[in-house]
Amino acid sequence: MDRPIRSLLFIPGDSEKKIAKAPDCGADVVIFDLEDAVAPENKSAARELVFETLTQTVPEHRAMQYWVRVNPLDTGMTKSDLAAVMAGRPDGIVQPKTDGPGCVRQISDMLDALEREHGIQPGLTGIIPVATETARAPFHLGEFADAGLDRLVGLTWGAEDLATAIGASGNRLPDGQWHETFRMVRSLTLLAAHAAEAQAIDTLYADFRDLEGLKAESELSRSEGFSGRLAIHPAQVAVINQAYSPSLDDVAHAREVIAAFANNPGAGTVGLDGKMLDIPHLKQAERIMALADAYGIV
Ligand code: COA
Ligand code: MG
Repeated sequence: MDRPIRSLLFIPGDSEKKIAKAPDCGADVVIFDLEDAVAPENKSAARELVFETLTQTVPEHRAMQYWVRVNPLDTGMTKSDLAAVMAGRPDGIVQPKTDGPGCVRQISDMLDALEREHGIQPGLTGIIPVATETARAPFHLGEFADAGLDRLVGLTWGAEDLATAIGASGNRLPDGQWHETFRMVRSLTLLAAHAAEAQAIDTLYADFRDLEGLKAESELSRSEGFSGRLAIHPAQVAVINQAYSPSLDDVAHAREVIAAFANNPGAGTVGLDGKMLDIPHLKQAERIMALADAYGIV
């Protein structure tokens, strides 16, 4: 199986100092940001710096995947962002504030032309939309499943811009749980990603000094079916990588489940430690073993 992306670290596209830390940050993906982390007056300098950074290594020799977050379509900057960086062969594009597959199709068409222009294999550049940042967006999540977007690598969601879009003064309750609206769109993103056979990528954990909170929330997130999450600070990366990898206990249990079925050929259900196991459990165990193999855990 392909290695699902566990951690995606945002790096402001105008920060030479932070960009220099990319190769050693340990993330599966770094996202050089041209959008919200960059002030309007720094946009063109950021484009140049990100392009330069991309050209320093060919994709095959990068320590991790290099993605770029462009500005949203309604800013009129998207095309110029892409034109500025595509010759550097980014592995993918993060598209913010999408309203649904139609917006993603527009970027995909721009990529078709730019890949041709720069001699890049057609369709090689991936796209991950931030698919819940407008009030309209959640109503279109289910449409990704049948949109035929071959570049779609994953779907992720954003809570900060959605709060702004709907005039909410916050997005979490005092105990840290998401407000109802945010819980709902988070679940819809999870389902939409799986329906589209894309990776379900959870949103960022804003309190970047609280690594215990990040760990607990990320472990829960994996158990719900997310395969990774966004990061904003290098200290979050190792916590996220671990939380979204199968643990040694998970692997040991998966081995037992697979052995229980192997010892009962032809059986659709078996018992293990007083619990009933059926075919979905076997499939889950096989998935854990494939993930463990992909991440080099066993
Ligand atoms: N990528 C790479 N390096 C980073 C980084 C990031 N996202 N965030 C922090 N660092 C570096 C800092 O430059 C600092 O380096 P130094 O030790 O050489 O000085 C080190 O890690 C420790 O940083 P720290 O002092 O703990 O944080 P900070 O106050 O400098 O930065 C943020 C805090 C939130 C501004 C910063 O983490 C950041 O820019 N995050 C990304 C924001 C972003 O891209 N947002 C858009 C998506 S929502
Ligand atoms: Mg934003």
